[in-house]
Amino acid sequence: MAGRIPQAFIDDLLARADIVEVIDSHVPLRKAGRNHQALCPFHEEKTPSFTVSQDKQFYHCFGCGANGTVITFVMELNGLGFVEAVEDLAGRYGLEIPREAGYRPASKQHDELYELLEQAAQFYRKQLQEYKGRAADYLKGRGISGTVIEDYEIGYAPSGWKRILNALGKSAEARARLAEAGLIKPGGKEGHYDFFRDRIMFPIRDPRGRVIGFGGRVLGDDTPKYLNSPETPLFHKGRELYGLYQVRRKKKQPETLYVVEGYMDVIALAQHGVDNAVATLGTAVTDKHLEKLYRVAARLIFCFDGDEAGKKAAWRGLEIALPQLREGRQALFNFMPEGHDPDSFIRQYGAEQFRSDDRTVPLSDFLLASIKSRAGTATREGRATFLDMLLPYLAGMPAGGLRQLIRQEAAGIAQIDADGLDKLLQDYRPGAARRTVISRSGQQREKSGDIGNIIAYILNSPGLAMLVEDPAELAGITVPGADFVQELVTLVQSNPEINCAGILEHWRGTRYEARLNELAAGPDLPADESFDLEREFIHRVEKLKSAKARQSIQEIARKPPSQLSDEAKKQLRRRYPSDKK
Ligand code: UTP
Ligand code: MN
Repeated sequence: MAGRIPQAFIDDLLARADIVEVIDSHVPLRKAGRNHQALCPFHEEKTPSFTVSQDKQFYHCFGCGANGTVITFVMELNGLGFVEAVEDLAGRYGLEIPREAGYRPASKQHDELYELLEQAAQFYRKQLQEYKGRAADYLKGRGISGTVIEDYEIGYAPSGWKRILNALGKSAEARARLAEAGLIKPGGKEGHYDFFRDRIMFPIRDPRGRVIGFGGRVLGDDTPKYLNSPETPLFHKGRELYGLYQVRRKKKQPETLYVVEGYMDVIALAQHGVDNAVATLGTAVTDKHLEKLYRVAARLIFCFDGDEAGKKAAWRGLEIALPQLREGRQALFNFMPEGHDPDSFIRQYGAEQFRSDDRTVPLSDFLLASIKSRAGTATREGRATFLDMLLPYLAGMPAGGLRQLIRQEAAGIAQIDADGLDKLLQDYRPGAARRTVISRSGQQREKSGDIGNIIAYILNSPGLAMLVEDPAELAGITVPGADFVQELVTLVQSNPEINCAGILEHWRGTRYEARLNELAAGPDLPADESFDLEREFIHRVEKLKSAKARQSIQEIARKPPSQLSDEAKKQLRRRYPSDKK
């Protein structure tokens, strides 16, 4: 496809765009030791845990876990896609992005779509204002006031097959764009027809306030009750949230967010003064949702129905939230009574009841109580089952106070001492040898052995890769990750100027991305004399190579002697000198 930005240009851009300078223009940075610090722009905090490394050209927040390169920063801060962020940075530094012929910048195409969707939102809104028929009655019947209709820009898609088509699709080009925006569908005599017809329309805005799609509700009992915009270049149902923009327009960093299931739940809560609710778009909660939400608020309250389906959905939410519960983050559940959703609840009982702390169950209570009741802890066998069921959840949680407290409590329930539970936890992941990558007084990090160390060292100090004389020697080692080390060393050797950020950008969007970012976010290497980085590095690389030697010995040993080459026999004799043969 035309338009891929050449990797070489990304390298140039990273060499030019200094992360400290770019971030400093958004949040004032303060020098602290080798790094720079600031209050994290991605979550609310009182003491700075956001650090920027000039050497690595990498930022990392110890509070919310946000991290990445300067490109990631521009993406995250402005809600941009990769290409748009690169364009933004290139513009800032006056760099021309090399384009293949016929290529239109992605941001240009997107701008046109955003504009069209905005026009559509205004069109639907005007229809509601002018038509004032069944649609207005319907909203009135559900107790929604004019103010809330305005705040959420609720509209009406008129009945008829080509209303928006005629209004906004005058040229063939305009119709193509309407189709791309998901507002019309191909088919019918005219070639296209309106996607939303005779529905109450809820425009969905991204956190920057741009319309990216719509939800539409029928006025009566037709099915489907709700229609969402189809997937488009701008709209991805599993990632977006309804109402987040409106919440943040009132308060940039609310303490708490309510996470509900329906458009009308958000609207009804707002109608009753609970203006910090967001809804998923007809999908279950995903980790992408939670990443977004925890950047805005540290405390999420999930509102689910109290029935079996609601409990199941809550459990799924719990499973997704657990790994994200870093220090300071909270997740709670507010189970609605039988037959209620947040909309009907708040209409019947009011906002005070809805907000009452008595209604919420902390995630840790829900976790322990659910597993306890499923396992039945009256017997020793039941308590063993309890531990079996709990361990995966504990193991999947980030270290910190909450995990510690759950562990303590679980030990009590299972009637096992804390050490015994720890032992079980360690054995739970026999695959991952838990070691320390870089130890320094008070700062320790568990990681999986030599491969992790080698990669972390290179990210901290890419020049180390030059010490590997022949990367090909790293090929074919069956230790997981060894192939990656070979690729990494080869990359650095052919780009001697590359820094940590350049390396990360090279693997953006691949399965290595997350792990690399995690390693890059690790502590800096100890600066004291006693730590000989080059020696450490070489030692670990040699160890890796010796794994290959061991491996080939094993392969040789498995073969019958008649099939062995002279070289192989020599190797075997070297390895087993006593083996007279
Ligand atoms: P519900 O069926 O719980 O409806 O759907 P609701 O929100 O209570 O709607 P009202 O009160 O009858 O107006 C919850 C959410 O699931 C998605 C929508 O996002 C809806 O808000 N949904 C539901 C669909 O996408 N399609 C449907 O047909 C129904
Ligand atoms: Mn409802």
